[in-house]
Amino acid sequence: MTRLLDRGPATPLHSLYAHVPFCTDRCTYCAFATIADDPGLHRALVDALLGELDRSGLAPSSLETVYLGGGTPGLLRPADLEALLAGLRRRVSIDPDAELCLEVNPANVTTESLTAWRDLGITRLSMGVQTFVDAPLRELGRHHDGDRARRALDALAGGWDGPWSADLLVGWAGQRISDVEADVGELVRRGAPHISVYGLTLEPGTPLLKRHQSGLIVITSTSLNHVFDEIWSSTLSSAGYERYEVSNFALPGARSRHNQVYWRNGDYLGLGPGAASSHHPLRWSNVRDTRAYLDRRRAGRSVRAHVERLAPEERLLETLAVGLRTRDGIPLADLDRRFGVAWRPPLADAFAELTAGGVLVADRDRLRLGELALTRADSVVSALARHLGRAPGVPSA
Ligand SMILES: C[S@@+](CC[C@H](N)C(=O)[O-])C[C@H]1O[C@@H](n2cnc3c(N)ncnc32)[C@H](O)[C@@H]1O
Ligand code: SF4
Repeated sequence: MTRLLDRGPATPLHSLYAHVPFCTDRCTYCAFATIADDPGLHRALVDALLGELDRSGLAPSSLETVYLGGGTPGLLRPADLEALLAGLRRRVSIDPDAELCLEVNPANVTTESLTAWRDLGITRLSMGVQTFVDAPLRELGRHHDGDRARRALDALAGGWDGPWSADLLVGWAGQRISDVEADVGELVRRGAPHISVYGLTLEPGTPLLKRHQSGLIVITSTSLNHVFDEIWSSTLSSAGYERYEVSNFALPGARSRHNQVYWRNGDYLGLGPGAASSHHPLRWSNVRDTRAYLDRRRAGRSVRAHVERLAPEERLLETLAVGLRTRDGIPLADLDRRFGVAWRPPLADAFAELTAGGVLVADRDRLRLGELALTRADSVVSALARHLGRAPGVPSA
């Protein structure tokens, strides 16, 4: 029998993620690597990120996507953001048409900040709106109310030419169907080119999980979430948005290029506290604690907390796990090129069953889930994992 291989992604490393951990307040549901904002640490972080890039020895020949995520990188002063981008440009050539995305909170967005970001070369913004309803925003520990988000959207409408995305959070306790309709409807009316809709999850170590464990109702039921999903997906589809990934909707031409690298299981370099990297054949993640990260950088020590070499079976499952959550699915030729044809026989029975059941679409050249099965991608991958005798793994950014 031919052995399963992993030849790595088709394209070399052209994507960089930099994690900026500062947040004005910690939201009660969030388990990302964050720290209470401390402007005194901003420049130290910028220096540490650039130093980490130098030490990695992995500066790509050129960058096609750069994602400044967090945390809240929109909190960085323009001078610090400029130092970070200028430092990157000194080390790596950034393509003239590269996507440079900045994650922001509505409280950071003003006409002045938009001008500064555009002048620094930021091409795309991703803003956490979550909802326009004030009570859950307060309850979830957000640092803005619905009107602040509306003012940020007004500023975007008047002073931002590039693409932008808004995140919505669905599934907070007490949310009604009319709330979902109003939140999605307002973003559609305002012409958001891209909308991400995230179902609220209970993450380890968060105050929200503690409240749930103490018996309080903090999230909506699975059955109500299905109703919500139908509402937002049909509203967005009628408004011309393509659900190109389970949680992501884009008007034509407004897809996130950076996130698509993750969903193709491509290589990316992650810098900063808690950042993950994938560079064939390795995957690693950094220490999550910001002060420990900065201390290690200052001492010239490695910031990597966990490094692993993935077996071809694990990479195959990852590739299926992320790719099957996308509307485009995965080209069969890409799977053959990366894993050799040996990936097909162990999964043949499962594919036949899933295709007969209408879950998988039997396209000639790609593997993809049917329209209605997209939201069931995780259970499909678990079924495929059982056929491979493995637990499914999903790469995280
Ligand atoms: C880094 S944040 C975006 C920028 C900024 N920090 C903000 O929140 O406005 C990325 C997104 O992840 C979402 N997120 C974090 N924890 C989540 C959870 N437990 N369930 C669902 N979405 C979550 C946030 O709501 C946010 O929209
Ligand atoms: S959701 Fe955003 S603002 Fe809230 S704690 Fe997480 S990263 Fe910070």
